[in-house]
Amino acid sequence: MSTPTNNLPDVEALQELANRYFKALPNEVPKEISPDPYEHPRAAAFAKSVTGEAIVPGINLPADEAAAPFNAPPAAAPSPVYGLTAPPSATGSGLSSSVTNHAIADGLHSGSGVSPSAGNTALPDVASPGLTPGFEKTSSDKSTLSGGVPSSVAGSGASPSYVHQQENFSIKEPITSFPDSNIDKPAHHYNDNEDPFALPFIDEQPYWSDIASVLKHITLSDSVDGAYASPLPNVTAPNLPSFYFLQNEPRHISNMPLGGYTSGFDAYRIKKDFPILNEKVNDKPLVWLDNAATTQKPKSVIDRLQYFYQHENSNVHRAAHELAARSTDAYEAARKKVQAFLGAASPNEIVFVRGATEAINLVAQSWGDQYLQSGDEIIISHLEHHANIVPWKRLADKKGLVLKVIPVDDDGQLLLDAYAKLLGPKTKLVAFTQVSNALGTITPAGEMTAMAHAAGAKVLIDGAQSVSHMPVNVQALDADWFVFSGHKVFGPTGIGVLYGKEEILNNTEPWQGGGNMIQDVTFEHIKYHKAPNRYEAGTGNIADAVGLGAAIDYVTRLGMANIGAYEHALLEYATHHLKQIPGIRLIGTAPNKASVLSFTLNGYSNDDVGKALNREGIAVRTGHHCAQPILRRMGVESTVRPSLAFYNTCEDVDRLIAVLRSLTKS
Ligand code: ALA
Repeated sequence: MSTPTNNLPDVEALQELANRYFKALPNEVPKEISPDPYEHPRAAAFAKSVTGEAIVPGINLPADEAAAPFNAPPAAAPSPVYGLTAPPSATGSGLSSSVTNHAIADGLHSGSGVSPSAGNTALPDVASPGLTPGFEKTSSDKSTLSGGVPSSVAGSGASPSYVHQQENFSIKEPITSFPDSNIDKPAHHYNDNEDPFALPFIDEQPYWSDIASVLKHITLSDSVDGAYASPLPNVTAPNLPSFYFLQNEPRHISNMPLGGYTSGFDAYRIKKDFPILNEKVNDKPLVWLDNAATTQKPKSVIDRLQYFYQHENSNVHRAAHELAARSTDAYEAARKKVQAFLGAASPNEIVFVRGATEAINLVAQSWGDQYLQSGDEIIISHLEHHANIVPWKRLADKKGLVLKVIPVDDDGQLLLDAYAKLLGPKTKLVAFTQVSNALGTITPAGEMTAMAHAAGAKVLIDGAQSVSHMPVNVQALDADWFVFSGHKVFGPTGIGVLYGKEEILNNTEPWQGGGNMIQDVTFEHIKYHKAPNRYEAGTGNIADAVGLGAAIDYVTRLGMANIGAYEHALLEYATHHLKQIPGIRLIGTAPNKASVLSFTLNGYSNDDVGKALNREGIAVRTGHHCAQPILRRMGVESTVRPSLAFYNTCEDVDRLIAVLRSLTKS
């Protein structure tokens, strides 16, 4: 290869280089077929744009030279690449400049005297969006690209197949899972100011510094100043009950009293992160006590969705262009966040679905349909909401299975003795909730799972009501499947998660067929991907998966153990004051409860109570809560159901109690 006298790469060298590069791109050959194997149609244009020279058409290199590794010319600065206005590598191919470095070989930059990063910095920001206000690049921005596009989303810049396989890329065996450039680097040690789960723009999020300052000083004001807000006697930090789900978690709860309780939380500050909680309803500040139905979203989640649509939106896994890389990175990073959140062994065990309901239907219609036979038994519990009853009942009716139900006592606790008697050699599956949506009962999920496994049965745990209230570790629980909905854990609607043990997922037939879930399709034969892709047919809910990742970031920062402890104190507070109201009947009085306060009030329909609360700006759910069997077991058709989250305060509870008291007086 010749070295021009001006020490710049000549047009021939550049064309040969570009030729190799373009041919190495995934899908490139099917897109542009050149009659000359040494001249990709775009290679000539690239060389010309760099050197400004006229192109000699049809340059054919000798075979040995063409096959030899490219040796970059010992160029002096500045490289012709420096200051390129629109390199075809970034615009034509759809790859980011960082991948251009990757693919063309370091030689170009190292030989040119321009470091790869300098080359990147100098490249025009064709692939990078302009930053929106509030997302300005900061000194701590880890981005290597200009324009502040975070490296986590733009650093790879290529399809997963290309990044994994490079020149060995085979269109027949694409790889569709994408490595996350931040999370995958084991060698990186985060310092105190860095956060491995940080959003690209996390430094601009005000809430974290707010919360950090609160947790640092832990000087909470006593927010309990309402008419019914007298602190409970004899309840202090050391006397707070301990919970099995908190035992292995560090507790960062201070000993400062809050209405007789302890908390490291300032829920008033946390509330500020949730724009909707500033709403007025009927001219009253909104009090959101319908968290078991859905939770409100912090600004960081809302911003993340907006950022996705403004800067990353693309289908995932299927293209070599920059936005496909960004969206794929963001989507797969969200999967890893879910993996960490649930303590799963691998991101391959995390399947994105629409919600807990879809996840349960998926297991019933794939594993259940494949492995269960007439006469086999499924055990569920009396606590289940319809989503964990109907799919199993339908499967039982279709296949001649027997559906058995673990009974509850009058407080709403599962009777484990009775459960033990239901288990037997025919039991193939036990499916139960970790927290009851109608009563709030926390079930002994680990113990129940061990009992089921001892009987040879598989276990599905419904975490729809648990993941927002307590730390969950699917490996500690030893669940075979675990499901939850994003919208109940401060994430968007329409996205949820099926966790499944990898071996089980890979040994189960997919439930839906289509694109994305196959390795190869002919009219005679179809080869499926392994999990998770085998269960993600078609285009998924990419943006909301990313939003769910942001929600997980948020609760992770607060700390699930902290959330659990704070909410339990609030639940005790609310329970104590509810019980004082004449005519109240609490439905669900298990000692181990989370979040939910179902009740009826003498003399009023549940609807009337709900409307009276709404007039004062207080949102609760009234009705059967999609859990008719357990309500009927408790002797009612419906209840009023306030349900708590970590942004609720004693003052919110006081306002609820005040309305109920006024009803009993009128
Ligand atoms: N399962 C949801 C609830 O409990 C809909 O309200």
